[in-house]
Amino acid sequence: MTVFDTHAHYDDDRFDDDRDTLLASMPEQGVGLILNPGCDPETSRKAVTYAEQYPWVYAAVGYHPENIEGQSDEQIADGLREIETMATNPRVKAIGEIGLDYYWCKDAGERKRQQEVFRAQMRMAKRCGLPVIIHDREAHLDCLTIVEQYPDVPCVFHCYSGSAEFAKQLLALGCMISFTGVVTFKNSKKAREAIAQIPLDRLMIETDAPYMAPEPYRGKRNSSLYVHRVAEAIAEINGISPEEVARVTLENGKRFFNIIDPIS
Ligand code: NI
Repeated sequence: MTVFDTHAHYDDDRFDDDRDTLLASMPEQGVGLILNPGCDPETSRKAVTYAEQYPWVYAAVGYHPENIEGQSDEQIADGLREIETMATNPRVKAIGEIGLDYYWCKDAGERKRQQEVFRAQMRMAKRCGLPVIIHDREAHLDCLTIVEQYPDVPCVFHCYSGSAEFAKQLLALGCMISFTGVVTFKNSKKAREAIAQIPLDRLMIETDAPYMAPEPYRGKRNSSLYVHRVAEAIAEINGISPEEVARVTLENGKRFFNIIDPIS
């Protein structure tokens, strides 16, 4: 089966020793497509480099809420300008990852700043005609409020951690929902309940490599090679075959990111 890992960070230094060998081997190991998002200007630049090097890798560019911490307003403004320039590259298929992270950020002023940078990138996505990849950690309601304000911008909630009820609200807004290896963990009841509520044509799968390695690799460095485990877990929940999950989520990802087929 051929899968689409819709979220993996190959810019991470944990790939420094084998990045090229690993990325070059993906199609022969069943990974047909990979989307590598950026988290700031530097990692976005790297994502574009891999996308230009490998036909099966695409990039997203953006400022992650955690990466704006400690940056001056001027640095962020410069970074956003550079990100928008990169977004015109045809190998760039989304703005991301962007959003809100309240797990690490308790300060009300800093949270406001995250919201401003998130909104600025929603406007950027609209100008560029690109979808967005949303990071939402313990910020469900504020993410929803912002997403609602930009109805023309297609969104995927990556590494979904909300409830089945919140998923219904996102589906009503037209959002896609993406799951990582977390669904293979023993304590993933909440994610499993959400998956059972989500139509297959609204789901995507991802690794979030190098983080979030699925069972039985939990705690190890993750890579796109393990995205099959996510397909298998979703298949089990829905009582269908992993091949069917792989096929439909590949189609969903290509449609969402507007990828004109390099593979069939
Ligand atoms: Ni990520």
